Amino acid sequence: MKRAFLLTALCLGLAGPAFAAVGAELPGYQVVVDLTNRASLQRGAKYFMNYCLGCHSVKYSRYSRIGEDLGLDMEMVKDNLIFTGQRVSERMEIAMAPDEAERWFGASPPDLSMIARQKGATYIYQYLMTFYADEDRPWGVNNWRFPYTTMPHVLWREQGLQRAEWKDAENGNGDKKKVIEGLTLESPGLKTPEEYQQLVVDLTSFLVYVSEPARLTRERVGTWVLFFLLVLGGFAYFLKREYWQDIH
Ligand code: HEC
Repeated sequence: MKRAFLLTALCLGLAGPAFAAVGAELPGYQVVVDLTNRASLQRGAKYFMNYCLGCHSVKYSRYSRIGEDLGLDMEMVKDNLIFTGQRVSERMEIAMAPDEAERWFGASPPDLSMIARQKGATYIYQYLMTFYADEDRPWGVNNWRFPYTTMPHVLWREQGLQRAEWKDAENGNGDKKKVIEGLTLESPGLKTPEEYQQLVVDLTSFLVYVSEPARLTRERVGTWVLFFLLVLGGFAYFLKREYWQDIH
């Protein structure tokens, strides 16, 4: 018991600083992902192919499976989702070599198959919502959720450019430093803030879906399994009563 306690404490102790190193949680930015909303997932898939697949693979997913799960026939998949000249049966890979990517960006764009399971939907949503102008960064932008990220703000035309509002804060040692208080939209993009937010919700939902494609089926089947167990339980109960009634 004591050993288990110590082990847990040790793990938490070790994990704590690792979590702390990732940017702050941003309470003002929350997302609700609804995997039953097919229209949203379809839009998310399309945005992903347009804006993200140039750099990020989703190498465990095939176009055909995505089409099937999201209710698109193969012609629609070919016409609307594949911009890379690949076949529908192929996996969603990218042409860029990892070492080249690293030379261009300083960090290789990760495969996003598991990102939603690894970091959560809220993280992805906050990351895509909180790019802001920063002249000191190579791409002219920084990120509130993931400070000093090497990813450019690929959706800047849609969102426009945000500027950070700073305030003074003190850390535990009494040192003063500047922290971000909020972001304001300085030059609007092609989309209104509401439209842009919806775009990010769609993209986030799509990434949650690809991180576990079976979840759509599992949840549907799961309801039936529970219903079946309930009915079976009822039968079993009456059967038991029937068997035992002569014994008491
Ligand atoms: C021009 C190339 C490029 C494009 C296009 C691009 N990204 Fe990235 N992305 C990167 C790079 C580089 C990184 C690695 C950032 C780092 O580690 O500093 C990254 C990292 C990420 C991460 C992981 C962040 C983390 O915490 O590790 C997510 C999530 C992400 N991108 C989502 C997207 C989405 C969604 C799109 C499409 C809207 C997109 N990216 C388009 C280059 C790109």
